[in-house]
Amino acid sequence: MRVFVVHAHPEPKSFNGAMTRQATEGLTAAGHEVAVSDLYAMGFNAVSDRRNFTTTHDPHYYRQESEESYAAAHDGFSSDIQAEMDKLFWCDALILQFPLWWFGVPAILKGWVDRVFASGGKIYGGGKWFDRGVLAGKRAMCSTTIGGQPPMYSAHGLSGPISTILFPINHGMLYFTGFTVVEPFIVHAPRRISCEDRAEYLARYRDRVLGLATAPTISYPKLDDYDEQFVLKSSQSTRNQLDLHSTVKTPRP
Ligand SMILES: Cc1cc2nc3c(=O)[nH]c(=O)nc-3n(C[C@H](O)[C@H](O)[C@H](O)COP(=O)(O)O)c2cc1C
Repeated sequence: MRVFVVHAHPEPKSFNGAMTRQATEGLTAAGHEVAVSDLYAMGFNAVSDRRNFTTTHDPHYYRQESEESYAAAHDGFSSDIQAEMDKLFWCDALILQFPLWWFGVPAILKGWVDRVFASGGKIYGGGKWFDRGVLAGKRAMCSTTIGGQPPMYSAHGLSGPISTILFPINHGMLYFTGFTVVEPFIVHAPRRISCEDRAEYLARYRDRVLGLATAPTISYPKLDDYDEQFVLKSSQSTRNQLDLHSTVKTPRP
């Protein structure tokens, strides 16, 4: 198995740092291949703009998707983006390793997604998305640490369910581009974990990473399950509810 870890933590001695080292050592020892993009160590540029490209489609108005489509057709991505794309195409499985910051990924990782997940059919677009995505057949997993304890992230907890918080990443980024999404590996309140428990958590993480190929996945509907308005065909009641609740009707131009 070829595993690509995108690591987004500024401190190597952090729990996140220990998790990525654990994954790398465990996978390598078991004969797998590993590539790590340590975004802070690389000084990865998280700002998405014209510097993403060596080509220019429209010098007067910057529209990122148009520039991405043009770059995809003319081999025009900057070398730092192309290198990350190459690792995506190379891997069988992707791990996003990050601390939960403001209910999402740290800005450096969001910037990595903004810049590397390019449209124009390179990573998505032209009908290539979700189960028909460019990266279909590969697996991806969020591995994250969270400041709060599990009850806070339960259905009736103060923060709400963690599955809802991770939905924009699991569904909006990973499934969107075609990945089969593995259930996340979550460590709560790592700073409160004792030394003995720390080793236990890291061992469990190593086991999950070694079992990535068969680990449980999140089941999302396929594109064929949606109608022409991208509403689930099977959920007539949901459709009625949407109609009932849409009090503001946007007129068609
Ligand atoms: C900028 C920032 C935002 C954070 N946002 C959240 C949050 O939304 N929810 C939460 O439970 N913890 C939050 N935390 C706490 C981190 O998730 C926690 O410190 C981290 O997971 C610990 O892992 P580490 O020891 O590897 O840094 C935040 C911390 C920082 C610095």
